[in-house]
Amino acid sequence: MSCSLRPVGRAQRAPLERLVRATGRFRESEVRTAVELLDEALAGDHDYRFVGAYQDEGLVGYACWGPTPGTEGTHDLYWIVVDPAQQGAGIGARLLHHVVVTLSAVGSRLLVAETSGRADYALTRRFYEKHGFIRAATIPGYYAPADDLVLYTKDLTDGDLARAAP
Ligand SMILES: CC(C)(COP(=O)(O)OP(=O)(O)OC[C@H]1O[C@@H](n2cnc3c(N)ncnc32)[C@H](O)[C@@H]1OP(=O)(O)O)[C@@H](O)C(=O)NCCC(=O)NCCS
Repeated sequence: MSCSLRPVGRAQRAPLERLVRATGRFRESEVRTAVELLDEALAGDHDYRFVGAYQDEGLVGYACWGPTPGTEGTHDLYWIVVDPAQQGAGIGARLLHHVVVTLSAVGSRLLVAETSGRADYALTRRFYEKHGFIRAATIPGYYAPADDLVLYTKDLTDGDLARAAP
């Protein structure tokens, strides 16, 4: 089934919370953080940008990203989430493509995504690698014992990251 991409509004606050919880991937504190970021964005904070994927008016996925503080042209992909019942159908790819196109249009240079090194995150890591992210760093035991942080980066400059800013 096809989906459309649109902004995430106040009406999607509860559906977004349900969506993040339904993945089973995030602690309750992280679910709250996801909703807080939406609240900040709805209050006018441009550091958090959202796009939603909709099917029959229902939210089936979303991405949230924003500029990384203290950097020039680096952005963090804070969240990308798809309804478990709809995963593997290309919705995540569409959301990511939207983020990349939006950032490229404003001259962003680097997109950063953090995830876990745990075995149950293998598909998430494959998703990033499939979409041109490279595994730039691993921090052993970062999240918890035996739960590493894996930092992925995607070059948005066509291989010209070292170039000085104009
Ligand atoms: C990671 C995620 C956003 C990808 O979205 P998606 O719509 O499932 O992905 P797509 O259909 O566009 O792409 C499918 C590819 O992503 C990977 N993938 C990740 N999760 C998958 C899943 N549950 N089912 C199938 N493929 C999955 C695979 O590599 C697959 O391609 P392949 O089968 O050719 O290897 C989504 O699966 C998700 O919400 N996962 C749980 C939350 C999460 O880990 N988010 C990232 C950290 S914030």
